Amino acid sequence: MTAVYSKILGTGSYLPANRLTNDDMAAMLAKDGLETSDEWIFSRSGISARHFAAENELTSDLAVKASNAALAAAKMTKDEIDLIILATSTPDNLGGFPSTACVVQDKLGITNGSAAFDVQAVCSGFAYSLAVADSFIRSGMYRKVLVIGAETFSRILDFKDRGTCVLFGDGAGAVVLGASDEPGVLATAMHADGSYRDILCVPGRPENGRIAGSGFLVMDGQAVFKLAVKVLDQVAQEVLAKAGLTAADIDWLIPHQANIRIMEGTAKKLGIARENVVVTVNEHGNTSAASIPLALDAAITAGQIKRGQHLLMEGVGGGFTWAAALIKY
Ligand code: UT7
Repeated sequence: MTAVYSKILGTGSYLPANRLTNDDMAAMLAKDGLETSDEWIFSRSGISARHFAAENELTSDLAVKASNAALAAAKMTKDEIDLIILATSTPDNLGGFPSTACVVQDKLGITNGSAAFDVQAVCSGFAYSLAVADSFIRSGMYRKVLVIGAETFSRILDFKDRGTCVLFGDGAGAVVLGASDEPGVLATAMHADGSYRDILCVPGRPENGRIAGSGFLVMDGQAVFKLAVKVLDQVAQEVLAKAGLTAADIDWLIPHQANIRIMEGTAKKLGIARENVVVTVNEHGNTSAASIPLALDAAITAGQIKRGQHLLMEGVGGGFTWAAALIKY
């Protein structure tokens, strides 16, 4: 029997129309007597702008737009999809119930009984989801999987906390992964260390139909920074070793777009040149699980990423979680 691999058949993405520059954020925060500036935000994070969803726009709406674009790019009809995996930390409903993947299935009009579930690994969610989708395809259980990263982080940002609210944005990216007799996904790895769960979290919990505690994102930025650079290097080395490749074989590094300094630090440690790193954090901010598929689609649409090239995607985030996928596009 010939081996089954998984391959990227198409990608798509969507950003909400409302784009806010750093100056717009500074003006918004000033109304509450808080000071920030384009200089502070850009020098610390590399972010110039971000997009925020409209009031009536849900995570599933962003996901549906990205998914339709990915299906069109894959030249596929929605009914060929037999599994939907959606990575998000900002699901449509409290507690992620029902899963946003189920909402997306319905909004896409898929009635073929495809499986659908959410993955919660915060900013590593898309890399986790790729690993899960690849495993399902290689096991023969599913053949065409819609893998989505979609977020509306603006809904969990505390606009009175200038240390976090300027860093995040909303958006969605999607990939159709399909069974193929040639690779495809060459190697994946996923990790977690729950002892660091408090350094990046939303501490509130549901109680008697309300949120007990804070429903806002809180972060120890410096702790996240240090851990991120360390684990991103480790997980990159891990998938390279699994695939029998070296950093010199990588055409494009597509890291989670959290902070340009973390991205540049990771690339430098790996020995990957700056021009081989896909960077969208300047225009998107940190869109958590959506950041990698948004960056991937932007680079494919721009004609930078070409078929046959080696892509190294890696994510890191709350949990603490980290993961990577090494792919021949
Ligand atoms: O998906 C993973 C998500 N997280 C990350 O990737 C975050 C990783 N961490 C970071 O990127 C950085 O730690 C930050 C960008 C979050 C912060 O940079 P930093 O160099 O670690 O700054 P800091 O938190 O130590 O703050 C330095 C100063 C403080 O003032 P004092 O105490 O030195 O007077 C803050 O109050 O900057 C102040 N500050 C601000 N000033 C202007 C914090 N936020 C702002 C702001 N505008 N928005």
